[in-house]
Amino acid sequence: MGHLTHHLSVWTAGLLASAAAEGSIPLVKRDHPAVVSAPAMKDLGGYWLNVSIGTPPQPLALLVDAQAAGISVLYPGAESVECSEERYCSFYGQFDPRNSSSFTSDEDHWREIRPRYITGLDTLTLGDSRATNLSLRLNYVDGISSYSSIGIGPDNTSFVYQLVDRGLISTPSFSMWRDPVTELDVEADPGDTPGGIIFGGINAAKFNGPLHAFSFKDSAPTMTVPVRGVQVHVDPTASFISTPNSTTTAPINATFAETPFDLQTRYITSYFPRDTAMAIYAALNMTSTRRDDGYYPTPQVPCSRSAENHTLTFLVGSASFNIPWTAFLSPANIPSQGQCSFHITIPTDDDEYPSPYKGTLGSTILSYLYLAVDYNSMMVGLAPVNRNPGDDEIREIGTEAPQFPGAEGDFPDAISAYTPAPTTETVATETSDGWAAAMRTAAPGVLPAAVGAVLFGLV
Ligand SMILES: *[C@@H]1O[C@H](CO)[C@@H](O)[C@H](O)[C@H]1NC(C)=O
Ligand SMILES: *[C@@H]1O[C@H](CO)[C@@H](O)[C@H](O)[C@H]1NC(C)=O
Ligand SMILES: *[C@@H]1O[C@H](CO)[C@@H](O)[C@H](O)[C@H]1NC(C)=O
Ligand SMILES: *[C@@H]1O[C@H](CO)[C@@H](O)[C@H](O)[C@H]1NC(C)=O
Ligand SMILES: *[C@@H]1O[C@H](CO)[C@@H](O)[C@H](O)[C@H]1NC(C)=O
Ligand SMILES: *[C@@H]1O[C@H](CO)[C@@H](O)[C@H](O)[C@H]1NC(C)=O
Ligand SMILES: *[C@@H]1O[C@H](CO)[C@@H](O)[C@H](O)[C@H]1NC(C)=O
Ligand SMILES: *[C@@H]1O[C@H](CO)[C@@H](O)[C@H](O)[C@H]1NC(C)=O
Repeated sequence: MGHLTHHLSVWTAGLLASAAAEGSIPLVKRDHPAVVSAPAMKDLGGYWLNVSIGTPPQPLALLVDAQAAGISVLYPGAESVECSEERYCSFYGQFDPRNSSSFTSDEDHWREIRPRYITGLDTLTLGDSRATNLSLRLNYVDGISSYSSIGIGPDNTSFVYQLVDRGLISTPSFSMWRDPVTELDVEADPGDTPGGIIFGGINAAKFNGPLHAFSFKDSAPTMTVPVRGVQVHVDPTASFISTPNSTTTAPINATFAETPFDLQTRYITSYFPRDTAMAIYAALNMTSTRRDDGYYPTPQVPCSRSAENHTLTFLVGSASFNIPWTAFLSPANIPSQGQCSFHITIPTDDDEYPSPYKGTLGSTILSYLYLAVDYNSMMVGLAPVNRNPGDDEIREIGTEAPQFPGAEGDFPDAISAYTPAPTTETVATETSDGWAAAMRTAAPGVLPAAVGAVLFGLV
């Protein structure tokens, strides 16, 4: 059994589809299950979306990238690579266009030559919804770390916009979450949890409101939030505290002038300015020493320390979000050999390409936060996940302020809402007849609140 296989876990997840035809209560469906979590993602992370491509459908999972636009899919290429268990394609699948009757490409002889990459068009099925004639870039599987991805960024060609063009949702927007971790085992599965993605809406049951919303129009396509610093609440019973059991340990504050940090759905590592990171390390009894090449290695600690209960409070705008320190711990090796890495690090000075941002919030933080994004208003919303969610409360992301229902923030009063590109695409739904009918009969501009769906994430 390959090492990666140890990290394979099957997630349960719900498929949500909601149709609010005139006057009807949003219908929430939960039928199709689930997804497989990502293994061995030591320097990648994020949400993986289960879809199928082609006719008949070939299942695969795509890494969600909220800053990119295209859909990029692994295919066997001329080498016809077998996806061994060391390759991501064995977990997430690949797509063989030769086996899809609906695949078309302008490229000559692709079937015989099977070049390193080709572009083409095919059908993508997402939950109950099917989008035809989607543009795909197929990359041949050339290494153990190749993977497929789907861009849901603010570029108007991204998948979110394609869903609007096809009448499946009414605003270029989405939200996502992971279900709370009940039993954390940082060594076995660093934060593998099911979760969901909803295009065009939010699920208010999944977070403790309000959503705190921030504009990123000045940084788009990069999604940013205004960070003011971090507090570290150290476990008063931790063995490295000199006076154990002191009832209140004052939080360690590492604050600075509010500055935009980019927020990642794709990469797990968080970066903080040197002084801040050093203050966090000191508070948590870990270190990182600058190497000659200027790089600060990721601090390592024994994984057994994950039993310590420290909390990092991220100060973002006027909001603060508590994140357990274990969100940033993952095995340093596969298998871990007892060592874990702490994924808050110090950016390396890059004189040639200096980052415009003082820091980054990596995707692991999203294990504990609900994320909502609307590209009409260029707002991003965050809220703590609800550890005891009740029934789903799916609401559409609209065009009037506040675009996220019930959210707080400086929403623009007037936006120029995206107008769908003219399209001849047909929308097919396999099971929800009422929804399909509503789609077909809706007058332009009064599309029903159709919320397509899907699941899961991984760290
Ligand atoms: C999710 O995708 C993975 C990779 O293709 C697959 O192994 C798994 O069975 C899928 N899960 C569901 C419920 O479709
Ligand atoms: C896909 O097509 C290729 C070439 O036509 C064939 O070798 C392969 O077995 C097919 N795979 C499946 C799953 O049908
Ligand atoms: C499919 O999309 C391409 C461009 O992406 C367009 O040229 C073509 O007309 C579309 N086909 C159909 C059937 O809509
Ligand atoms: C802090 O961690 C180091 C290992 O990096 C350890 O040697 C030291 O004993 C720890 N301090 C305390 C007070 O536990
Ligand atoms: C601290 O608390 C633990 C258990 O809560 C207890 O066993 C230990 O004796 C306490 N230590 C001191 C110095 O009070
Ligand atoms: C950190 O800030 C909190 C709240 O602003 C304050 O109560 C606390 O005393 C500060 N701690 C330190 C060590 O400055
Ligand atoms: C961990 O610490 C937080 C606050 O710092 C506290 O609310 C929580 O109850 C603690 N959890 C455990 C299991 O001790
Ligand atoms: C997409 O954006 C480009 C500019 O980046 C613009 O020219 C084009 O009209 C936009 N398309 C739609 C459908 O809004």
